[in-house]
Amino acid sequence: MTQDELKTLVGQAALQFVVPGEIVGVGTGSTVNKFIDALATMKDQIIGAVSSSEASTTRLKALGIPVFDSNAVEELSVYIDGADEIDHHGHMIKGGGAALTREKIVAAQSRMFVCIADASKLVMKLGAFPLPVEVIPIAVHRVMRQFAAMGGTAKLRLNNGHPLVTDNGQHILDVTGLQIDDPLAFETAVNQWPGVVTVGVFAHQKASVCLLGTASGVKTLKFE
Ligand code: 5RP
Repeated sequence: MTQDELKTLVGQAALQFVVPGEIVGVGTGSTVNKFIDALATMKDQIIGAVSSSEASTTRLKALGIPVFDSNAVEELSVYIDGADEIDHHGHMIKGGGAALTREKIVAAQSRMFVCIADASKLVMKLGAFPLPVEVIPIAVHRVMRQFAAMGGTAKLRLNNGHPLVTDNGQHILDVTGLQIDDPLAFETAVNQWPGVVTVGVFAHQKASVCLLGTASGVKTLKFE
């Protein structure tokens, strides 16, 4: 099976977690796009979605799924999203699609985080994928120096030769060479740096379940 077929498989499998009569939290990315397409087949059974990006909002609306502002909903039963890496504890690196801040917000208002990913995303230790960090533009160089001091190399993410601007009007740094031995402590520490909006380690908002697309079908991993 191709990676694209594995993404379709887990996108469809995630429908089992969607609660009829409720609003579902929806992430961002190519795997989530497969989930959104599958969700359209049961759109008459749900009230709608809270979305984590302009891109997902556009896709949801195009398929006739109502989208609600996250402020309009106190709590969601379930949030479904992809990941760039996930470890055996449900900790993730996210933000490859630059939507990490809104993803963390919607994940935080959800009782359950269902991660959908192809098998290549499962790792023993986080950190091979460059860590996305959303940063306020005037803090970019300062935050780059802070990562350098801990042995990392931060690069400003570009889009058509210009700094990428997120849905929130900020920039993204992609950081390599980090040792993320304790994801919870790492996330807490970097989040406190002035100018950091969101660090792409999801340890406080970790996955409850991962639907992993493998050559032999969908494997369900549950995390405490
Ligand atoms: C977007 C994300 C995505 O969930 C992550 O990048 C995985 O994307 P894909 O499903 O396209 O591999 O965090 O900000």
